[in-house]
Amino acid sequence: MKIFESSWFPVVLGLAILLAILHSVFSSEEKPQDDLFLTENFNSTNEWHAPDINSLPDDEQGKLIRYGRELIVNTSLFFGPKGKIASITNGMDCQNCHLDGGARNFGGCFSAVASTYPKFRERSGMTESIEFRVNDCLKRSLNGKPIDSSSKEMKAMVAYLKWIGKDVPQKTTPQGAGLETLKFLDRAADPEKGKQIFLTKCVSCHGENGQGQFNHDSSFYLYPPLWGQNSYNVSAGLYRISRVASLVKNNMPYGQSSHDSPQLSDEQAWDVAAFIVSQQRPEKIFEEDWPKIQTKPVDHPYGPYADGFSEKQHKYGPFPPIVAARKK
Ligand code: HEC
Ligand code: HEC
Repeated sequence: MKIFESSWFPVVLGLAILLAILHSVFSSEEKPQDDLFLTENFNSTNEWHAPDINSLPDDEQGKLIRYGRELIVNTSLFFGPKGKIASITNGMDCQNCHLDGGARNFGGCFSAVASTYPKFRERSGMTESIEFRVNDCLKRSLNGKPIDSSSKEMKAMVAYLKWIGKDVPQKTTPQGAGLETLKFLDRAADPEKGKQIFLTKCVSCHGENGQGQFNHDSSFYLYPPLWGQNSYNVSAGLYRISRVASLVKNNMPYGQSSHDSPQLSDEQAWDVAAFIVSQQRPEKIFEEDWPKIQTKPVDHPYGPYADGFSEKQHKYGPFPPIVAARKK
């Protein structure tokens, strides 16, 4: 009996240690809830670089990819008010929000498109193809009409998106993909403070009324609009304060800011974003969005909501109380 007991002891002890280890592993992997509603898995730490467009061969596929890039960089020339293919958008370019054709980390970067699509998204409640996602930006960010999935233009944009992300392993998301998730402020972001920042740091390019600036024959924007009738509509992702604060913090003023050396502080970025979201823009709403309203991001700027917080708090914050209530 004694011998029996002493041989079981190490086994029991081993099990106890194993349980303790498992417990600590699982609790440390719990994601912070605020991330859950703001980002889609940033899990890799390697810095991503886009492949070189000049390395593409001059064959059919190479031409298609180059055409796709051209459509993303100079969208307005093809689909804007004076577009040579169709006149179906507000005149913005994809590149206005996906900087350097989506090659810029933290600038609406396309590094994780090829590796993560088709992807389930809560806004549609569906598994979305790349074509579906591109048409989403056409309908919302470009306040326009979708294009046919089998058109040469859609094929070209998708070919470009697949090519730019070709070296990223499937199901992984490099750091810098899309837009960064900034830490929430403890207070509501302040449009009045934001207006002062706008007037000193943004107005020279984006204009006093946020209207941007066309080129000489109005076929494309030199500086895109931030609000107003030619801007993205209320169903676009950039109407969420966290998205615009992030884009601005890491990239604006244009040419003077980057993720490594931003010009604005987080607070300034949230406040200027508050000023931008306080302005008017096209009121296009898609009734089919958010089939489960409890999955709406905390900063979705208009209801209905599954919680009792006001529209104003969802639009400007403070967000930590909303996040805390969701955790319960
Ligand atoms: C007004 C700004 C804006 C414009 C213009 C715009 N987009 Fe987007 N796009 C966004 C935002 C914001 C997201 C979501 C990014 C995030 O939250 O990380 C997004 C996401 C995407 C994604 C998914 C990225 C991912 O990693 O999941 C694709 C693909 C995309 N856009 C393509 C396009 C194309 C193609 C065009 C032009 C036809 C375009 N976008 C124009 C703002 C814009
Ligand atoms: C030197 C000119 C310049 C200044 C100053 C500048 N921007 Fe921009 N901004 C641009 C350009 C150009 C783009 C489009 C980038 C592209 O197409 O490659 C852009 C794009 C944007 C976008 C995304 C597209 C859109 O139209 O919504 C936002 C938001 C934005 N800027 C906000 C700001 C804010 C806020 C400031 C001040 C803190 C600012 N910018 C200062 C030139 C500027």
